[in-house]
Amino acid sequence: MADPIGIDFGGSGIKAAPVDLATGEFSAERERIKTPEKSTPEAVAEVMAELLERFDDTTSSVGVTIPGVVRKNGVVASAANIDKGWIGTDADDLLSSKLGREVHAINDADAAGLAEARYGVAHGRPGLVIVTTLGTGIGSALLYDGVLIPNSELGHLEVDGHDAEKRAADSARKGEDLSWEKWAGRLTTYYRAVEKLFSPDLIVVGGGVSKHAAEFMHLIDIETEIISATLRNTAGIVGAAALAADL
Ligand code: BGC
Repeated sequence: MADPIGIDFGGSGIKAAPVDLATGEFSAERERIKTPEKSTPEAVAEVMAELLERFDDTTSSVGVTIPGVVRKNGVVASAANIDKGWIGTDADDLLSSKLGREVHAINDADAAGLAEARYGVAHGRPGLVIVTTLGTGIGSALLYDGVLIPNSELGHLEVDGHDAEKRAADSARKGEDLSWEKWAGRLTTYYRAVEKLFSPDLIVVGGGVSKHAAEFMHLIDIETEIISATLRNTAGIVGAAALAADL
């Protein structure tokens, strides 16, 4: 059986790679195309089809991440940082027909959470683990004893009267040119709100910015154990591919 392919639909790029499920590593070079300016379902589906053509194999199952709520039936129910046309779109249906094979969609942070639970720092961790991804928005995955509770959307907690991700996502750090210290202060406020509401046993910090973990992780001042992700920005692809293979 060919390795399943994961496709990660992000704010700046759409990335794809086949994943070796024994190790959680890419089994071929990752391919990337810029996310279209107007990220409509049709435009994104076209990019995904183009990415798939770059891999020789035409039989592998495909999993796709969406930066929004994805209901169990594949219908997208929110679109904070993508074209609003996604709301109400049956992603499984649309992408299966555009890509010519069975496709399963999953929320991007849920995919990252699954990947960390299977191959990364959350592996074998009991109790409630909250995996967060800091990027254009803030994504979250709740895992209880390794089982995913999907679509938690903790990036949209209201903290001090603000939608949390507007203040604490990595895009806020970049957009407002915040120092690591200042941004870590915002992350402290955010993660304190999360720990107050959920009493997690572990918080994991993922997303592309976790490659700079040494700059800010030690500045986040909360009670709960908080560690940076292992898979960083490969987690979405790996989790989506794992999901596709499971289904
Ligand atoms: C979306 C989430 C997504 C997160 C990270 C948020 O704005 O509502 O569904 O997981 O961004 O992309």
